[in-house]
Amino acid sequence: MKTILLYFACISLFCTTLLSQEKQVISIETNNQAMIFTATQNDRIIFQYWGDKLNDATSFINKKVKGQPDTNNDFATQLYPAYGGRYYLNPALKLTHDDGVLTTELVYAGHTTKALDANRTETVIELKDKIYPVFVDIRFVAYKKENVITQSATIHHEGKNTLTVENFASSYIPLHAQSYYLTHFNGTWAHEMQMEEEELTHGTKVIESKKGTRATQAENPSFLLSLNTPANEDSGEVYAGSLAWSGNYKLSFEIDETGRLGIVSGMNPFASTFYLKAGETIEAPEMVLTYSSTGVGNISRNYHDWARQYAMVHGDQAHPIILNSWEGAYFSFDEKILTDMMDNAAKFGVEMFVLDDGWFGNKYPRNGDNAGLGDWQTNKKKLPRGIPYLADYAVDKGLKFGIWIEPEMVNPDSELAKKHPEWIVKSGSREILTMRNQWLLDLSNPKVQDFVFTTFNDVVSMSPNISYVKWDANKHVDNVGSEYLPKDKQTHFWYEYVKGLYNVYERIRAKYPEIQIQLCSSGGGRVEFGALKYHDEFWASDNTNALDRIFIQYGTNLFFPAIATASHVSTSPNHQTGMMIPLKFRFDVAMSGRLGMELQPKDIDGDEYEFAAEAIKNYKRIRPIVQFGDLYRLVSPYDKNGWASHMYVSKDKGEAVYFAYSLKYHGRTTYLETKLKGLDANKKYKVTELNTKNGHSSFYGNGQTFTGDYLMKAGINLNIGNPFDSTVLLLTEE
Ligand code: GLA
Repeated sequence: MKTILLYFACISLFCTTLLSQEKQVISIETNNQAMIFTATQNDRIIFQYWGDKLNDATSFINKKVKGQPDTNNDFATQLYPAYGGRYYLNPALKLTHDDGVLTTELVYAGHTTKALDANRTETVIELKDKIYPVFVDIRFVAYKKENVITQSATIHHEGKNTLTVENFASSYIPLHAQSYYLTHFNGTWAHEMQMEEEELTHGTKVIESKKGTRATQAENPSFLLSLNTPANEDSGEVYAGSLAWSGNYKLSFEIDETGRLGIVSGMNPFASTFYLKAGETIEAPEMVLTYSSTGVGNISRNYHDWARQYAMVHGDQAHPIILNSWEGAYFSFDEKILTDMMDNAAKFGVEMFVLDDGWFGNKYPRNGDNAGLGDWQTNKKKLPRGIPYLADYAVDKGLKFGIWIEPEMVNPDSELAKKHPEWIVKSGSREILTMRNQWLLDLSNPKVQDFVFTTFNDVVSMSPNISYVKWDANKHVDNVGSEYLPKDKQTHFWYEYVKGLYNVYERIRAKYPEIQIQLCSSGGGRVEFGALKYHDEFWASDNTNALDRIFIQYGTNLFFPAIATASHVSTSPNHQTGMMIPLKFRFDVAMSGRLGMELQPKDIDGDEYEFAAEAIKNYKRIRPIVQFGDLYRLVSPYDKNGWASHMYVSKDKGEAVYFAYSLKYHGRTTYLETKLKGLDANKKYKVTELNTKNGHSSFYGNGQTFTGDYLMKAGINLNIGNPFDSTVLLLTEE
C-alpha cells in the first residue's frame, strides 16, 4: 500500500494522464479458464468475462460493457462495486468515510502479477477511492492445473479519523444469461448438505449464517450456478463458489432489471460493522471459485484436486481406517471396555482407535454431556492408568491412537466455568443460553486462545502414541458479546472469534504438522474450506444411517473430496433411526468415503464378522482409487428413481471402483443400467465384484474383461432391485 501512496505522490501529472489513456486487459488464467477485466487508470475496473480460456484476451481492449450504454451497466459490471454513483444493487463494499460521507468510488490504481510457483499465479489489483485515502486490494490466486481461482479483498484506511466499514465482500461475480439455476445446500444436525435447486427470479436470494462458530449448520457457504438450464452432470455452463470461512457469511444472488445476475459473497455484514483507525487494514476471507463449460462433474473434480493439494492437511497420504468409540460406548466405558474394543478392532484389520467423548473431568466427571467440558484432565475413576496406557495398548495391537476434544466450549458444571466466567461469550448481564448444556469460550480473547492451544498441546503431550485428534464444536453463538472486546468494538466479535480460532489452528499446525486432526462440529457443522485447511478430514454427519448418508455424502462430495469425508459403519438400527439396514449396504456406502466403524465391534459376529473383515481388506485395495482418484457421478439419488451410483477412476485410468445402491423396491424384473464414465476407451478392464454376500454376484459379467469403450457406451446391468441392495465393482486394467 505504501508503494501505491509513493507512486501517486511521486508520479508526475503527465504520467498519470498518459496512463489514464491506456486501457489494459487483466486476465486471471488457469489451464482451462480465464477471468478477464479491463482497467484504465483512475477509472472503474470492468468485469468483462469469466469462462473457458480464450486464445487472445486482448480483444477485450475494444469491447464495451454488455448492455445499453448510459444505464447502470458500467457500474454493475465492476470488479468490486462499492455503494455510490449509479450502483443500486447489493454492494461488495459499503463504507462511511471519516467525515460522514456515505458513498465510495473505487478506481484502478495498478496491479501486480507474480508466479508463486509453477502452478500458482498471484494477481493483486489495487483500487483506491477517487477522493478519500481508502485502498482496496483484490487478490486472486489462479491454480492452473486444478482450474480454481481464489479471490479475497483487503481494505486499508489512511484517513485521520475512524472509517466505518459496513460491508466488505470477498468477491463479486456479474453474469448475464436467459435464466439462472442456483443449487445450494441446506441442512441441520444429522441432516447436513441437502441439495436444493431453484430457478432464480428477479430480486435477491440470500444464503447466509448468523450462527457464528459453525458456518455450515444450516446452509453451507457453497453454491453451484448453472446458466440457462438446471445443472447437468456432463454439460452446460456452471459456476461454483465456496467461501473459506468458519463464521457468519452471506452469499447473495440478485437479478436486476436488465436480467443481469450479481453474486456477492463474503462474511455476513449482519451486526458486524468494523471501525478502522488510520493505518489499519482488514481482510476478507477467500472465495474459492471454479467454472465448467461441461457440467458439474468437472466442478467437483476441480475442487477435489485443489482441496487435496492446497486446502487440507495430508491430502497426499492415504487416510487410515478408524474405529471410533462414540456409538459403541458413548460415555459408559472403563479401561476394559476400551481395550476389548481395540482387541476386536485389530482383528478386523482396523488401523486406528479413537477414544471419543467422556474420558476427562474429575470434580465434574464427564459421564454425560452436562458436566466436565473444559476440565481436560483424565478421569481417574474410569481410566486409572490414564491415556498413555490406552495409547500404548493400541500401538501394541498395531493400531494408531486418537482422542476427542472440544476445547472451545465449557459446561457450566466445570472447574473452568467457575474459574474463568470472564472467558464466556455473553451479552452483558443477560442469561447465558446453553446448547447441549454448554457455553462458548470467547476466542476473541488472546488468553482464551492460549488456553485452547495449551489444551491441545497438553492433551497430545500425554503420550507420544497419540497421532490423531477429533476436534468438536457443539454450540452456536447466541446472545453474542465479549467481555474482552471494548464496548465500541462488540460488532467485531464475529470476525475476531474466527481469527482467534485460526490463530490457534496456525499455532497447532506450526508445532504439530504431522498429527491428524478431524474437523467435527455436531457432525458436519464446519464443513468448509476455511477450517479444512488445518485438518485432515471432517466428520460429515452424526447421522450414520447409510440411506441418509447417500444424500449427505452426495452433497458434501460435490465440493469436498472423499479422502476428507469420514464415513463410518454403525449399528443398525442406531440412535438415528429405527430402520434395519444390512451390513453390506452400510459398508458399501461407507467405503466410498474414508471408511471407519462406529459401533461395538464384538457385536459383529458369525457371517457378519467374516463379511466385515473381508470388506475392510477390500477397502485397503480400493483406498488409493477412492481417496486420490477422480469422482464421476452416474445416477443421482435426487433423481427419484430410487437408485444412486458413482465411481472413482485412478488418475492414470488404470483402475476404477464403481458403487451402486438401490434405495427402494423396484420389482423383481427391474435392473439398474448405467454407462460408466472417465475410463480410457482404449484400455481393457477386468471387472470384479467386491463385498459379495455368500458369493452371490449382482453383475452378470463378474470376472470378465471389457473395453473402456464398451463400458462407457453400452454400459452395465445390475440386478439390484430390492431396497438396500448394493454393488461395488473393481475395474483393473488387463
Ligand atoms: C458430537 C459429535 C459426535 C460425538 C459427540 C460426543 O455430537 O458430532 O461425533 O463426538 O459430540 O459428545
